[in-house]
Amino acid sequence: MKREPYKVIFDTDPGVDDAMALYFALAHPDIEVIGITTTFGNVAVEQAAVNALYLTALAGASIPVTQGIAAPLTLPPPVPPAHVHGADGLGNLPERRPVQATLDPRASARFIVDMARAQPGEITLVAVGPLGNLALALAIEPRLPHLLREVILMGGTVLEPGNVSAVAEANIANDPHAAAQVFAAPWRLTMVGLDVTHRVILPLSMFKAIADQQQHPATSTLHQAVCFYADFYSGLYPHVAQIHGCFGHDVLAFVYLVRPDLFTLARGRISVLTEGPLQGQTVLSSHYDADAALAGRRGDCVSQVCMEVDADACKQLVSDTLLGPWLA
Ligand code: BDR
Ligand code: CA
Repeated sequence: MKREPYKVIFDTDPGVDDAMALYFALAHPDIEVIGITTTFGNVAVEQAAVNALYLTALAGASIPVTQGIAAPLTLPPPVPPAHVHGADGLGNLPERRPVQATLDPRASARFIVDMARAQPGEITLVAVGPLGNLALALAIEPRLPHLLREVILMGGTVLEPGNVSAVAEANIANDPHAAAQVFAAPWRLTMVGLDVTHRVILPLSMFKAIADQQQHPATSTLHQAVCFYADFYSGLYPHVAQIHGCFGHDVLAFVYLVRPDLFTLARGRISVLTEGPLQGQTVLSSHYDADAALAGRRGDCVSQVCMEVDADACKQLVSDTLLGPWLA
């Protein structure tokens, strides 16, 4: 029997791997993206919103897009990583087609709250940027953890070294105070971090094959963007250079949503270090379950963390999904 698609709000800072994730979600028959909420991160939030509108319009999708938080809750605004995603967030596209698309006037946090209140228990929030929108939404509506079905986020790391410091992953490091608030709330939350995203290397040739076999402005734009992104990762990691590829990062949050069986999970309480040289580190305390049971009050904040992944199966799923019949 066919299941109802997962209703998803996609919180994102597009971003090349954000674009991969968005197109995977639009292409997958079990996912219905009901809103895209943007944040600063890979680019300024204004550019993130423009990119989200552009990518959805190119794919022929009509989905509300909101502009959200422009800076971290406490830290000064970071410099966007133009060397990773391009100055435009999409690998410095040489040109853009004219598209007709306008923003939903609500702020991202307000949109999340409105949608969760209107459809309690039905919406999955997939967050793949810094977590300020979610922290602001929590402040507006403290019952949000009970109104959302679940939260799946790309960010953080447990055993794998960080990608912006020895210990910190970019999305968490960009706003550790927001992340700390999010991990302290009683959602059903799964963290898809570098422990698994650094295992899944997607070759540039895969995106070329998709663009060749499924000729469309959306697939050729994604291929162009990944060219830049793969050059960055291949310049940094010799084992990635061997196949001229890139890490899948954000798309794995959606892979987890539809194929959780491809991941091995750990459970525990996740704390975020907000100060000092370890700022942005996510620490998993696996003993928290027992502590919480004893204390009888903190168990709600136990999260799941993806620790291992079937990388080949993920790659195959991303490829098969983007080669499916999702573009008119
Ligand atoms: C994360 O940081 C961003 O650069 C990517 O889009 C991804 O969300 C990886 O650390
Ligand atoms: Ca991202």
